[in-house]
Amino acid sequence: MPVIDARHLTAISETALLTLHQRAAEAARPDGIIEDPLAIALRDSLGYDYRHFGRTHQATALRAVAFDNATGRYLQMQPRATVVALAEGLQTSFWRLDNGEMNWLSVDLEPIVRLRQQLLPPSDRLRHLAQSAFDYSWMDQVDPANGVLITAEGLFQYLKRDAVLDLIATCAARFPGGQLIFDSVPRFLSWYSQRRGIKLSKEYTAPPMPFSLTADRYDELRAIRGIRAVHELEMPAGRGKVLSRAAALVYRTRSLQRFRAPTNVIEFG
Ligand SMILES: C[S@@+](CC[C@H](N)C(=O)[O-])C[C@H]1O[C@@H](n2cnc3c(N)ncnc32)[C@H](O)[C@@H]1O
Repeated sequence: MPVIDARHLTAISETALLTLHQRAAEAARPDGIIEDPLAIALRDSLGYDYRHFGRTHQATALRAVAFDNATGRYLQMQPRATVVALAEGLQTSFWRLDNGEMNWLSVDLEPIVRLRQQLLPPSDRLRHLAQSAFDYSWMDQVDPANGVLITAEGLFQYLKRDAVLDLIATCAARFPGGQLIFDSVPRFLSWYSQRRGIKLSKEYTAPPMPFSLTADRYDELRAIRGIRAVHELEMPAGRGKVLSRAAALVYRTRSLQRFRAPTNVIEFG
């Protein structure tokens, strides 16, 4: 792959480099929890000083595996479904999940879509739309005949609550029988990110995260017309015995719901 300068990405778009870097770092480890040679090649083809983001960890790759598992389950039921990846950034999920039949619609802002189109392999089942997820015209591009799964990986936390709830309600009305998968952060982390800022290194502070949601508040989503069910995805086992056991305990204990960052699935009725 050619090397392309990526220093022009800023604000939330720059976070796509952060999450790509985290997945690629995990994929490059011999004991990594995700297999993704394309993520490694993509990271290496972008001119950017990733040391800027501080230390690597497995949390972002674990989140990607949780999304892959849920998407894979949906595709087993509906192999010819359309997957809409909102704010897809530099994800390489299409190639990790491709079953040869699914269709994929990738929606992100123009600078990211340009990089994806320059650097990732084309497919006649992969389309890109360079627009905001809040420009709902992307919905007109989705053929719902064989099922619709919408993913929003690492997006909603950066947005205002009203905008997120309106997007969810509109998807519920437009895609009955479909599903939406998204991750969210607990209230304390949202508060901290806005008051103090989450500083990953001396040079880099992650953008504020105004939207929070935890599993103890799913009734707020169940109250939206067109939503049939909401549940939390199980966190896949991570690397390292102690850490993965501790994480499993946190993710299985009901009384800790409001302290953990869930990956959520909404089923539209
Ligand atoms: C944290 S990154 C996540 C990227 C990718 N989903 C991942 O997990 O690696 C946030 C992404 O949201 C995109 N984004 C921000 N605002 C957006 C909007 N209104 N509509 C679509 N994408 C948006 C950014 O360009 C960036 O790619």
